[in-house]
Amino acid sequence: MDTKLYTIILAAGEGKRMKSDIPKVFHPIGGLPMIEYVLRRAIDLPSDKVIVVVGTGKEIIMDYVSKRYEDALFVHQDKQLGTADAVRCAAQELAGLDGDVLILNGDVPLIKHVLIKDFYDHYKASRASLGFMSATLNNPEGYGRVVKKAGKYAIVEENDADEKTKKVREINAGIYLASCKLLFKALERVKPSEVTGEYYLTDIIRIMQSLKKKVTNYHTDDADQVLGVNTRKALAHSESILNQRKLNRLMASGVTIFDPDSTYVEQDVVIGKDSIVYPNCFIMNGTKIGKRCIVWNGSIIKDSRINDGVEIKPYSVIEQSVVGKDAVIGPFARLRPETVLDDNVHIGNFVEIKKSSIGKGSKANHLSYLGDATIGSRVNVGAGTITCNYDGFKKHPTIIDDEAFIGSDAALVAPIRIGRGAIIGAASAITKDVPPGALGIERADQRIIEGYAMKRKSKLGGR
Ligand code: UD1
Ligand code: CA
Repeated sequence: MDTKLYTIILAAGEGKRMKSDIPKVFHPIGGLPMIEYVLRRAIDLPSDKVIVVVGTGKEIIMDYVSKRYEDALFVHQDKQLGTADAVRCAAQELAGLDGDVLILNGDVPLIKHVLIKDFYDHYKASRASLGFMSATLNNPEGYGRVVKKAGKYAIVEENDADEKTKKVREINAGIYLASCKLLFKALERVKPSEVTGEYYLTDIIRIMQSLKKKVTNYHTDDADQVLGVNTRKALAHSESILNQRKLNRLMASGVTIFDPDSTYVEQDVVIGKDSIVYPNCFIMNGTKIGKRCIVWNGSIIKDSRINDGVEIKPYSVIEQSVVGKDAVIGPFARLRPETVLDDNVHIGNFVEIKKSSIGKGSKANHLSYLGDATIGSRVNVGAGTITCNYDGFKKHPTIIDDEAFIGSDAALVAPIRIGRGAIIGAASAITKDVPPGALGIERADQRIIEGYAMKRKSKLGGR
């Protein structure tokens, strides 16, 4: 782009219709705050400056944006007097500069780079001073309507529209391109609406035309991309569009999604070729799944690395964990944060693991809790084994060396170390370290009382 392009993102509004304590543009969609998508579009263009207008809930928005987009600039709109007033707040950064300004609404997250780029090319080719994007919706309620009379455009906001105008289905998308110098001149002339008292950005269309400046309209046929999120209902609708887009991308790259209608994958998740995701799974951002993995029904995976060839059986919950190649997890397994499983590990039903590492080929197949443990390779953890890692005050570590065999229902009272190849007798409460190759057993001797059952029966009156 030869001319400079500055992008203003409007993000100061409260979003009253959301009925929320969280500022609207910070509501998550596809696992990311709405404003994240708009910021990505501004960066993709690229923009020479990105200016975010903040007001309601500005602390959390500025904190989020500044950590991810170091170059983003903030301008403050103390009172939310309307979209024109919001853009006017950016004058301190832009007024008097040559170049163009792109204005994006922070609550229009579905827009793609290509659409903005086409709009930009159209605007440049038309040599207009202002361009605005529009779309045609079946249900235009809540949007500004595009009205054209005697070759001139006007946008009438829902609140100001009469019944006839409300029937117009062409809506203002809330995305504009304008010559920087003329934009701020036009903004000075915006008067508050007689109906709502707000300063409408849409007035600049009328003003530019009265200044005899050319205004161009760019109509998109893909109305989904310009849906505004003003209500929880619109949020859910946009969420499902974004999810289907993500699933389509995954399928196009060689992932089988068994039932796209009931599968949810957040936007930044990566899944490798020939993996299969079954219904009702929820795979969240920060997750990278390798090739040839199978994720069976009802599993939830968040912020985790799943390596190639892993099978996750139904209803497993995995968070902030690493799972090595060809491991088998579940059904009903729970991997809590900081779990690191090496290749070929098997974790079975009703096993909970927290902040532990488990070496190659080790197995814990049934009903266990393993916390703060370092477990070596080829270890067998019997059914019902518990690491007693908490004494009521502090957490303590358990170490189990390679090839140890832990009998069922053992309680390993930490801190404790089970040596290489050691065996722990079933149902033992182990409180002292067990040396390599030894048997650790803690259990009362078994008694046998011959004929007891018969005697009891006759005593208690049985036949
Ligand atoms: C706006 C347009 C409408 C268009 C629709 C498209 C105006 C007057 N109306 O309506 O024509 O069809 O977008 O989605 O522009 N904001 C501020 N400060 C304010 C007010 C709003 O920063 O004082 C921000 C909001 O955070 C939001 C954006 O501007 O990101 C749009 O505001 P919103 O109140 O949602 O406008 P709409 O009623 O949707
Ligand atoms: Ca809106």
